[in-house]
Amino acid sequence: MPSELPVAKRFESTADGKPSPKMLSFYEENGFLILENFASHAACDALKARIAELVEGFDPESVRSTFSTDDQSHAQDFYFKDSGDKIRFFFETGAFDSKGDLVKPKHQALNKIGHALHDLDPEFDRFSRSDKLSNLATALGLEDPALVQSMVIMKQPFIGGEVGMHQDSSFLYTTPMTTTGFWFALEDADQSNGCLIGQAGGHKAGLLERFHYDGDSLVMEKTSDAEPQGPYEALAAPKGTLVVIHGLVPHSSAANTSARSREAYALHMFDRNAEWAADNWLKRAPDMPVKGFA
Ligand code: FE2
Repeated sequence: MPSELPVAKRFESTADGKPSPKMLSFYEENGFLILENFASHAACDALKARIAELVEGFDPESVRSTFSTDDQSHAQDFYFKDSGDKIRFFFETGAFDSKGDLVKPKHQALNKIGHALHDLDPEFDRFSRSDKLSNLATALGLEDPALVQSMVIMKQPFIGGEVGMHQDSSFLYTTPMTTTGFWFALEDADQSNGCLIGQAGGHKAGLLERFHYDGDSLVMEKTSDAEPQGPYEALAAPKGTLVVIHGLVPHSSAANTSARSREAYALHMFDRNAEWAADNWLKRAPDMPVKGFA
C-alpha cells in the first residue's frame, strides 16, 4: 500500500443526523460515510477528559496480578474474552517486561479501553445515545439498533500500533449481516498519525473470515476466497468527525509514528431484527443485556 493514499470524500453532518439521499447513496456505494462536525469540539473534549479520568483511576497492578496468576498469554486471553460487559484496559504490545512490570507510564502504554463503556459509564452513555446518532443509525437501515460494543482507541504518539486489515462483521456476526461501526475522531486523524484506511466498495465482496468460539477457544475461520475490489482511501477525519463503517468493508489503520496522539471512540451496533451469532467472542452477562438507544 502506498504511503500516501487518496483522501476519501467527506460530507458536512446534518443538524439532526438524518443523512441526505447523496450521503445514503455514497454509503451504499463505498461502504463508509464520513460526516464532519457530527460531534462538537466541546463534546469531544468532555469525552477526552473522562478518558483521562478513567486512565487515572486505573491501577495497572490489577492487570499485572491477573496476568501473573496464570501464564501470561492465557490470562491476557481471558482478560479479553471476559471484557464484553466490562471496562477493561489493554496495553500496547511490549508494554510489560519479562517480569510483568510496565516499561512506560500507564497513560503512554495503553492501546485501548473496552468494551462496554457505553453502558457502564454515564459520560459514554450520554455521548453514545444521542438522538442525532439514533436518527442516523435508523436511516442507515438499523431498524432496531442495539449498541453492542464500545472502545476507546488511544493510538499514542510514536508507539500507537497498527491495526491490520479486517471486517468488523468477522468479529460481531449477525444473520443477515447488520454490524455497523461508528467511529468518532476525538482528535484530528490524518495519514501522519494513523487515520483509518478503507477499501471503497470492498463490502460488496461479502464476509472473508469469521472470528468465533470453537469450544473454549477463539478461532479465525476463512469463509470466502473472494477478493474485495476497490481503491484504498485514507478516511481522514478532523476532530468531531464521525466515520460510519459498514461491517463488511475492509479497513485498517497504520501505526502512529507522529508526535500527535489520535484518540478515537468506536461504537458498534447491530439490528436486533437480525440473529446475533451465539458463538461470537463478545459475551454479556444475563443481567447486562445489550440495549438500544432508550
Ligand atoms: Fe474495525
